[in-house]
Amino acid sequence: MNYCCLNQKIIPEAKAGVSLRDLGLLRGYGVFEVLTAQGDKLFLFQEHFRRLKNSAKKLNLKLPVSEKQLEASTKKLILKNKLEKASIRIVLTGGPSKDGITLGKKPTLFILANKIKGFTKKDYLQGVKLITTEYQREIPRAKISNYIHAIQLQEKGKKEGAIEVLYFHNGLILEASTSNFFIFKKDTLITPKNNILLGTVRNFVIKIAKQKFKVQERDLPFQELKKADEAFLTATIKGILPVTKIDNFKINDGRVGENTKWLMENFKRN
Ligand SMILES: Cc1ncc(COP(=O)(O)O)c(C=O)c1O
Repeated sequence: MNYCCLNQKIIPEAKAGVSLRDLGLLRGYGVFEVLTAQGDKLFLFQEHFRRLKNSAKKLNLKLPVSEKQLEASTKKLILKNKLEKASIRIVLTGGPSKDGITLGKKPTLFILANKIKGFTKKDYLQGVKLITTEYQREIPRAKISNYIHAIQLQEKGKKEGAIEVLYFHNGLILEASTSNFFIFKKDTLITPKNNILLGTVRNFVIKIAKQKFKVQERDLPFQELKKADEAFLTATIKGILPVTKIDNFKINDGRVGENTKWLMENFKRN
C-alpha cells in the first residue's frame, strides 16, 4: 500500500481526499516541487523549500509548515513507504474556495512518494532528442501546477522520438518542459537566465562547471543552437541528460560531447 501525507497526516494514498472545490482542481491554482531522496537523505532540500516558498508567495499562498516540519514529514513518508531511492512531490494548492475564484483560508498541502523511474542507460550514453515550440510559461520563476502546454505536446514529442519539448519565445531559447537547457560552445557553457525556472540541478551544475569551464548565464538566441558543440538538459530526476538532436539537426554529429561527459562524471548527489 502506498502512503501519502495530506495536510501533515500520513494516510493511505487510496483513502486521501481533497475538496472538489479546491482551487488546485477547479483552476489549476497551485505550486509544487519534485525532489529526490536516497534513504532519508534528501537532495538539495533547502533549495527546494526556498523555491516552494517563493512560488507560493507569487501566488499569495502561505506555506502552512516550517522547513523543519516539511523535512520531517517527508522523511517520515519515505520510511512509511519503505523507499530506498525516492522521488518526492510536494504540492500546495489554493485550497477549498466558496465561489471557485476567491482564495480560501486553508491551502491544501500534500506529499507523494514514489520509486524513481529514471531514464535508460542508453539515453545517457547516446543522448536524447528534443523538439522545439514557441512558448513561455506563466510566472516563469515559479513552479506552478499548470503544465497544460507540456501535456498537450507529449504525444507529438513521442511520435517524433523526442523525450521533451524545448521552449523558445521571441527568438530566445528558454527551458524545456520539465528541465533546464545548456549548450557548450567549445569550453564555454551557456544557459538561459531570464524567463525560466531556476532549476535546483541547474544551479548545482553551474557551480561544478565553474571548476573547469567558462560559464555564461545569458540570453540564448535560437540561431545559436546550430552553433552548439554540445547540449544537455538538467532536472531533478534526470540529473544531466545529454541532447544529441534538436528537431531535425544533430548536435556534435549525434554524439555525446566530452565536456558533457566530464560534468556527468562529476555530478554526484548528496
Ligand atoms: C519548467 C521547468 N524548468 C526547469 C526544471 C528543472 O528544475 P529542477 O532542476 O529543480 O528539477 C523543471 C523541473 O521540473 C521544470 O518543470
